[in-house]
Amino acid sequence: MPRKFYLTTAIDYANGAPHLGHAYEKVLADVIARRQRLLGRPTHFLTGLDEHGQKVQQTAQKRGIEPQVLVDEVAVVFQAMLAELNISNDDYIRTTEPRHQRVVQDFLQRLFDQGLIFKATKSGWYSVRQEQFLSDKDRAEDGSWPEIYGEVTQTTEENYYFKLSQFQGWLGEHIQSHPDFITPRFRRNQVLEFLKEPLNDLCISRPKTRLTWGIELPFDRSFVTYVWFDALTNYYSAVMDQGLWPADVHVIGKDILSPPHAVYWPCMLKALGLETPRQLLVHGWWTVNNQKASKSAGNATDTLGFARSHGTDAFRYYLCREMVVGQDADFSPTTFENRYKADLGNNLGNLVNRLLNMVGRNYAGKVPAPGADEEHEQHLRKLWSETLAKFDEACAEFQISHALEALWVFVSALNAYIETRAPWKLAKSADAADRARLDSCLAYVAEGLRLIGTLLLPVMPATAAKLLANIGRPVPTDYAGQLAWSTVGTGSAVAEKCILFPPIEPPPAPSPA
Ligand code: MSP
Repeated sequence: MPRKFYLTTAIDYANGAPHLGHAYEKVLADVIARRQRLLGRPTHFLTGLDEHGQKVQQTAQKRGIEPQVLVDEVAVVFQAMLAELNISNDDYIRTTEPRHQRVVQDFLQRLFDQGLIFKATKSGWYSVRQEQFLSDKDRAEDGSWPEIYGEVTQTTEENYYFKLSQFQGWLGEHIQSHPDFITPRFRRNQVLEFLKEPLNDLCISRPKTRLTWGIELPFDRSFVTYVWFDALTNYYSAVMDQGLWPADVHVIGKDILSPPHAVYWPCMLKALGLETPRQLLVHGWWTVNNQKASKSAGNATDTLGFARSHGTDAFRYYLCREMVVGQDADFSPTTFENRYKADLGNNLGNLVNRLLNMVGRNYAGKVPAPGADEEHEQHLRKLWSETLAKFDEACAEFQISHALEALWVFVSALNAYIETRAPWKLAKSADAADRARLDSCLAYVAEGLRLIGTLLLPVMPATAAKLLANIGRPVPTDYAGQLAWSTVGTGSAVAEKCILFPPIEPPPAPSPA
């Protein structure tokens, strides 16, 4: 039994509604997880909710409810989003669960016992929004505090610190010697840059006088732990009994790479004698009108409406196709509509219908055995092997947009092949050679569609399954033996008609903040 592939997403903050950024990250991870399973690799896919911290406490206070009541409500909404997006996670971790809290306390105690956590008093500038002390290097050029820090006040406080600085040398070497640890690679530089400055020890406590909504330090009950120390531990606490550690991939956004995932987390693990995750897959931001999609900007929640109006799979396709992993992408109703109409409706959808039509009309709905094998057909088979190689290569680097781009070259080629072959003309010919060409044309298109549907299963699970069913093919649960060009489709009964992507009126554009 091969070792399970263990994949996670960031756990979302439980202080608002899910939006496009959250949706995207889950879809990206889901595509990876589904593909791994099809490649025959048992997979464990974890996502969850980050439920502690000042923001949650404040939101609950404002609403006059207990924080637990708030996070219970939010968890329902986030889990509904996962269901709506057809996310195949195997587990969902919430940081208020006892299974998690126990591990966080155990980590803290172990570090404390090893002398890696110490108490100190610090005075300085404190950002309430980021829940952290700031230093002068956090100031903007004009000396002010950047907006991301919100209200900044002078505070003196006794707290516990983790000796992060002790691990700086090790971390630098680890990142250098594991070039794939941070993917895409250009993101590594940002972290190495950060490591050029000496690391400060990390404040891992908050006095309960200021924050009660957190996990208590086991060695001093008048403090709770810092939300990042708590949140990062989820990746381990959720699976510690299942022998799944270390994680293969943590999928995260660029805003939480450095320092949390690239610095705090590996150092915490190193200090605890645990292995570091194999890879951080860092995606960029979705923007709307070039502004980061976020809860505070209020510009992103409505975009989920596209999943409702155009179907979950069309939305998944759009997200995967439009964002080059690592870079930012701008969401717009126009680009969505264009992809929906051009790539899905006119290209793929049309191809399916052409096949069903011709097979229905000329072969009583049963895919013929291929006849003539002429240059066009050989070209298609060759193109398939090139497409597959490109698709696999892109997926190995998690570049799903490039994989889809390559696959659509093949979809277009099949449509062009039909145009050139003009099966409607061949069908009228009394010549046996033309009949053999017609056999081949429809057999080849059916085979091409089987392969397309099979490769698309992770991205558009329901639509790809529907496509396969409509051309009379079973939905594979394993890719073994499924991706080579073959004649398995001969004799398959195709549906009469199939509308994969119905024409749709776009919903109203996302309302501005
Ligand atoms: N709770 C922390 C993560 C803890 S992980 C141990 C957090 N939560 S978040 O809700 O703010 O963000 C969750 C994930 O969504 C992050 O990976 C973040 O980068 C991603 N996104 C949030 N807004 C985004 C966009 N506009 N675009 C793409 N993803 C972004 O950070």
